[in-house]
Amino acid sequence: MSSQLKDSAGWAASFPGTVWKQVFHRVPKIPSHIDLSGKTVIVTGATGGIGLEAARQLLEVRASRLILTARTQSKGETAAAELRSKFPKADIRVWTLEMESYESVRQFAGRCETELDHLDVVILNAGMGRTSFIRTGDGRESTLQVNYLSTALLAVLLLPILRSKAIAAASPGETPSPGRLTVVGSDMAHWVNMKEPAGGILDAVDSSVGFQGMDQYAKTKLFLTMIVSKLAEVVSADDVIVNVVNPSGVRGTSLMRDAKGQYAIQAFVYINGLLLGRNLTDGTRQYLHSALVLGKESHGSFGDWQIRPYPPFMYTDAGIRMTNKLWEETGYELRFAEVDAILEKMKH
Ligand SMILES: NC(=O)c1ccc[n+]([C@@H]2O[C@H](COP(=O)([O-])OP(=O)(O)OC[C@H]3O[C@@H](n4cnc5c(N)ncnc54)[C@H](OP(=O)(O)O)[C@@H]3O)[C@@H](O)[C@H]2O)c1
Repeated sequence: MSSQLKDSAGWAASFPGTVWKQVFHRVPKIPSHIDLSGKTVIVTGATGGIGLEAARQLLEVRASRLILTARTQSKGETAAAELRSKFPKADIRVWTLEMESYESVRQFAGRCETELDHLDVVILNAGMGRTSFIRTGDGRESTLQVNYLSTALLAVLLLPILRSKAIAAASPGETPSPGRLTVVGSDMAHWVNMKEPAGGILDAVDSSVGFQGMDQYAKTKLFLTMIVSKLAEVVSADDVIVNVVNPSGVRGTSLMRDAKGQYAIQAFVYINGLLLGRNLTDGTRQYLHSALVLGKESHGSFGDWQIRPYPPFMYTDAGIRMTNKLWEETGYELRFAEVDAILEKMKH
């Protein structure tokens, strides 16, 4: 587990460590025994980029039903049409989900509860990097809400659904297979210059003063990794295996579409992709590794095709204090959805 890999955290986050991983390690093929026949999978943000490719690869390993999420039904239907033409036997559905809205997240989770007989694998991929400070209707900076707060909310809301559907799907006397919940992190979480704020953590990263989109993006991915480490303390890997996948650099997506005209950011993303990035197929295969191949040993961990250390900051005293504080603050932020009560019921 990542929690035990403190000694190699410095190397994993270093420039040579990143180059080593990206350039000299090939992503292994998905083992042939992986077969999702009869299984239902969800990929959020699957209108393009890694999400759409993940949907395709999940269908390639015979997922029977795929829910792909889109902010607008029409964009999702375009993506779904492409998949349906290649996988005509699969049941492919488009459900809308706008992560800038807590209400949309709750409605989506509600549909999962009422409309799905099975739910086996969830990949929370929807995410973005924005260079300007924009507040959502819920009053939070948009990158913070989309990448972190709404992702955390959706993760918590889906945990009991994954568990109950697995129990319902098991034959009498059979031990249910754990559900799978993989959230998408980033290498950027390694490199963020995070200082423990004197006051609230969420408020400290929710100010337009000195706002820098890349830094904000990195912080949201660090927060996601922190919260998954805490979820794994509460939730049993026998119920749901929760982990963070780090796609590292993947070329050919629209992640930095908001950076038009911001030449320094565009140059960084382009050069990073060129030198260290993976093609979309290989980069995405890491999602399937984390969600299907890695087992209970990956619970609460950060990794790609293998379990890797957390960002170094998480092993420091300040990082541990911050992780605990973030957990409390996030519970308070999301209290309208009674997340504390949900997690209490998930306790093992
Ligand atoms: N590409 C990389 O090198 C890289 C590296 C590390 C991590 N990642 C992570 O990988 C994930 C996928 O990124 P990508 O590179 O494939 O980017 P992408 O091509 O921009 O795809 C992002 C997906 O997320 C959706 N999305 C964005 N904002 C949303 C919102 N407010 N509500 C719901 N869905 C929303 C997008 O939907 P729309 O089409 O409607 O915008 C799109 O389907 C992200 O979490 C990203 O942080 C990517």
